[in-house]
Amino acid sequence: MSTQSQVPVPAAESIALDQGHFYFDQGRADAAYRWLRREAPMWWFEPRRFWVASRLSDIQSMSQQPDVWSSKAGIIMPSGEEDPVGVGSSPSIIQMDPPQHNRHRSLVSRAFTPRRVADMEARMREIAVQSIEGSPTGTPFDFVEHIALPLPMRVIAEMLGVPEDEMENFRRWSDAVVVQAGADADRVTGMEAVGEVFAYFAEALHKRRAKPGNDLISALLAAEVDGRSLDEGEILVFCMTLLVAGNETTRTFVSQGTRLLLENPAQLELLRSGAVALPDALEEILRLVTPIRYFFRGATRDIEMHGMKVRAGDPVMLLYAAANRDETVWGEDADKLDLKRPLVPHVSLGFGQHFCLGASLARLEARVLFEELLARRSHWEIAGDVEFVDSSFINGIGKMPMVLSI
Ligand code: HEM
Repeated sequence: MSTQSQVPVPAAESIALDQGHFYFDQGRADAAYRWLRREAPMWWFEPRRFWVASRLSDIQSMSQQPDVWSSKAGIIMPSGEEDPVGVGSSPSIIQMDPPQHNRHRSLVSRAFTPRRVADMEARMREIAVQSIEGSPTGTPFDFVEHIALPLPMRVIAEMLGVPEDEMENFRRWSDAVVVQAGADADRVTGMEAVGEVFAYFAEALHKRRAKPGNDLISALLAAEVDGRSLDEGEILVFCMTLLVAGNETTRTFVSQGTRLLLENPAQLELLRSGAVALPDALEEILRLVTPIRYFFRGATRDIEMHGMKVRAGDPVMLLYAAANRDETVWGEDADKLDLKRPLVPHVSLGFGQHFCLGASLARLEARVLFEELLARRSHWEIAGDVEFVDSSFINGIGKMPMVLSI
């Protein structure tokens, strides 16, 4: 039993307790985040029985103490159902604690260093230019489908050695599995996709075993942990993690980032005129977008925080979306886009032990895409209703009709 903080959420605030779902109403969550940070920085959400941490400094320090706040205990919203990222006894690195975590992460980390990622810039630019040039000029089209989606998907697919003709499946799997992780949507579709993706990678693994290539699957087949090779389950989970983590996240960064710029034309003008550097602007955009709103940890022991008694085993939501708007760090206008704001590290890519492995990749993909967009299309306009992804976990956009012209 937890010692619960029964601080009521004001009715006007926007955390909708819809059938026990911790759902963030698109566009109205800022007030709820503010309330959490100020009034209940460690808040017990009774319908789903977990804590919510919302201040930047708390989330940073918790992320640096995996001995107290474990990932092994589960990183997605507790639901009592099977965790979609791990299979059986093989967890993903994102669900491991040290020292196992460090050993497994080091197997792939070399492929994601800023230097290795920089080698991919020319290929990224090729894909970005192709997608921009391939979309209509002057008439509405779906920005997500044509511009935000192809680059991250192709890059991770090519890193894994997935051929061109599997691209459509690759996209469908990634979408279904991410939604599944959000625990808000159709679980059946999600679980079917998980099965298909494992079947696909199992076959790819057998092919690479017979004929290794210059891809991540071949590298994982050759890798050893504590003097032994990874087993099939471990490699499959690695592939699944990269597929899911590297795809919809960056897509969301780009599509929500574009929407944010269009809602703030003066800020977009700062970019166009060169008054702010694109990499700095992208950090401010990434802070506000927070593509992944939260991950979970489990307390490994009883611990008191902000006067609340968290018990060993209690799940805790690290609510990055609230932490990234912390007024004690970014000031009273933290909810606003300000590309000239001094840079302060945010937690959109996590922090500490599990800091995003693909951070350099995602940042470079976004920079390349925005550079090419700014250079090639001077007029950007949203031309219809934006459809948001129905998930509390990912702050995604499903469809965004846009008109771009020269
Ligand atoms: C803007 C895009 C991205 C966002 C917002 C994002 C966000 C995150 C966050 C918040 C974490 C921390 C998880 C935790 O602490 O439990 C994380 C971890 C991770 N990310 Fe990303 N990510 C992005 C892009 C990518 C890309 C492109 C890849 C690679 C293909 C990737 C691979 C990973 C992996 C493997 C982990 C687990 C690291 C570990 O457990 O040590 N991510 N990401």
